[in-house]
Amino acid sequence: MDSRKRIRKAVFPVAGLGTRFLPATKSIPKEMLPIVDKPLIQYAVEEALEAGIDTLIFITSRKKHAISDHFDSEFELETRLAADGKNDLLERIVGIVPDHVNRVHVTQPEALGLGHAILCAESVVGDEPFAILLADDMIRNDGAGALAQMIDLYRQTGASVIGVEEVAEELTSSYGIVGVRENPAGHMAIETIVEKPQPANAPSRLGVVGRYVLDPSVFAQLRHVQAGAGGEIQLTDGIAALLATHPVLALPLVGERYDCGSRHGFIKATIEYAVDHDDIREDMLDHMQAVLAREGRL
Ligand code: UTP
Repeated sequence: MDSRKRIRKAVFPVAGLGTRFLPATKSIPKEMLPIVDKPLIQYAVEEALEAGIDTLIFITSRKKHAISDHFDSEFELETRLAADGKNDLLERIVGIVPDHVNRVHVTQPEALGLGHAILCAESVVGDEPFAILLADDMIRNDGAGALAQMIDLYRQTGASVIGVEEVAEELTSSYGIVGVRENPAGHMAIETIVEKPQPANAPSRLGVVGRYVLDPSVFAQLRHVQAGAGGEIQLTDGIAALLATHPVLALPLVGERYDCGSRHGFIKATIEYAVDHDDIREDMLDHMQAVLAREGRL
């Protein structure tokens, strides 16, 4: 792989069924659920833009238009807010995606798994390394965003990069888990990757989080992947095949991760981000204190 290639394209798979959030996700993707006042997908898009991405590729299911509507301009609302002098609100909805950035929507006809969703992006990504962001994994930090950290390592090495974090032993069966060895440059080279292993079979406790920078040869591998864990076509299995021909590094990401695909992770993120908003912070803290007192936790 040419290590000088710029990572310009990011794939956002948003075609999952989101069953853990039913009925909220019956007609909208879970990535449209808001943390405070922004949908999950917007946080992920902002992280990608900050990392220099200029083409956003959304893999959506046939029925769900909410994602494209969210990033389209809303003339009537904008005109109204401008006329009412509500400039602070206007600023929140204009220019979420700058004009020079392309948006492409690809339909995944059936939710056959994350690997299949990524394969749907092949014709748009073409023959260049690309990023994947799962918007339901939120990574919050004060410095460089998660994807920017990964692209930095890709630039140094030319290798594919997968974001990881240490997970509790009993949780290995909820993650893709990597087995690594330190390479001469001091990076963690991935030797094995398995989807949702039981703790006894897990090669480590390093769980894959929803950020990837991948060589495009992963598409050729994904074409041969059969349904695996959970009956789905797994991205993990495509990456496992990629390892035979291509270096893949694991990067522990700096920052706090919230699994917003689960209800408790989603609520934790909501609390953390709410406390960050000056206008609601004090109310929130007072309320949490009152709840804890009522529940006998203070
Ligand atoms: P999840 O494993 O979280 O599945 O998908 P899900 O269907 O979204 O949610 P649950 O488990 O039923 O509650 C991980 C990511 O892959 C996308 C999802 O949208 C999410 O971003 N995905 C998954 C697809 O785009 N297509 C698929 O076929 C499966």
